[in-house]
Amino acid sequence: MTTLEQKLIAIRRHLHQNPELSNQEFETTAAIRTWLEEADITILDTPLQTGLLAEIQGETDGPIIALRADIDALPIQEESGLPFASTIPGKMHACGHDFHTASILGAAYLLKQKQAELRGTVRFIFQPAEENGGGALQVIETGGLDGIQAIFGMHNKPDLPVGTIGITSGALMASVDGFRIDIEGVGTHAAVPDNGIDPIVTAAHLITALQTIVSRNISSLHNAVISVASIHGGSTWNVIPPSVTLEGTVRTFQEEVRQQIPGHIKRVIEGVAATYGANVSLHWHAGPPPVQNDEALTNLAIQAAQKTGLDVVKPTPSPAGEDFAFYQEKIPGVFVFMGTSGTQEWHHPAFTVDERALLSSAQFFAVLAEKALAKLTSSLGLL
Ligand code: NI
Repeated sequence: MTTLEQKLIAIRRHLHQNPELSNQEFETTAAIRTWLEEADITILDTPLQTGLLAEIQGETDGPIIALRADIDALPIQEESGLPFASTIPGKMHACGHDFHTASILGAAYLLKQKQAELRGTVRFIFQPAEENGGGALQVIETGGLDGIQAIFGMHNKPDLPVGTIGITSGALMASVDGFRIDIEGVGTHAAVPDNGIDPIVTAAHLITALQTIVSRNISSLHNAVISVASIHGGSTWNVIPPSVTLEGTVRTFQEEVRQQIPGHIKRVIEGVAATYGANVSLHWHAGPPPVQNDEALTNLAIQAAQKTGLDVVKPTPSPAGEDFAFYQEKIPGVFVFMGTSGTQEWHHPAFTVDERALLSSAQFFAVLAEKALAKLTSSLGLL
């Protein structure tokens, strides 16, 4: 095992033992700062409360590209049984962001050794708050993306073995929008429903009708899911309540489908509510759009993976979301799935990553950064 590999494993384990939730990553940020300073890597001044940006500037002026890692953990009690399990009750790196952070630090260490040869600048984005979706927007709003021409990031992938990497152009992860529907009726005794307006019967029809949006309004060539995941109304068996609240989520891999769905939902719920005499209101929470990988940069990532000795596979897109997509709204980027031979899926209390993936992950991003700078610098520039 190389010294670098040992160091990255130690970093990853330190992060794993000390998980912090979204926007609370103060100790994590301090540790990353120390690890970067030890390697004489420049840290940028930003107004970010947590998370940080760093840069390695080559000898020659050139484009700036970014490597991004997310750094936050989840409110989950760890049950992995690992000797280096979380030391903080109720908090856990159950999505492997410790692995992402250590990988991108490793890429920074490798690129630091090649600083003189770099044909431009590599910015490292250690992003807070991926889990609650606010972190990427914080980075963008505080200028963290300014000047960057291409961005790369990853998620570990438990169902891909170590030594493989999932890379594809186009959609890789779904958009994540949320909604709340308030149904206002008129409460009454359950024995005399004709004296009121029943929001529960309205809700029942409305939930069923919402399912026709995907089956009747969305092309069979596209895909989307609309899930009502929460329903609240009433408190006892013989009173019809005055209101019911529903909450749910919409996922899709196509931005054009995503744009259509709120209008369909509004139309359906207003129609159903009118049928039963209830009032209805829709509250929309727009989350990240789909992760959409740029084709030219994807080819570059495939070349970098091959050079690193990783097997490139075509990944199955994930209906989970990623706020990396907010960066891709601004600039072209590629998000990859790194095989980590996990035994459990993301967010499971016994989630693990196989640390043998760590060194090659760092090497992949270092090679990719070099290639991206060279490509962007060349006369056949990508953009
Ligand atoms: Ni994650």
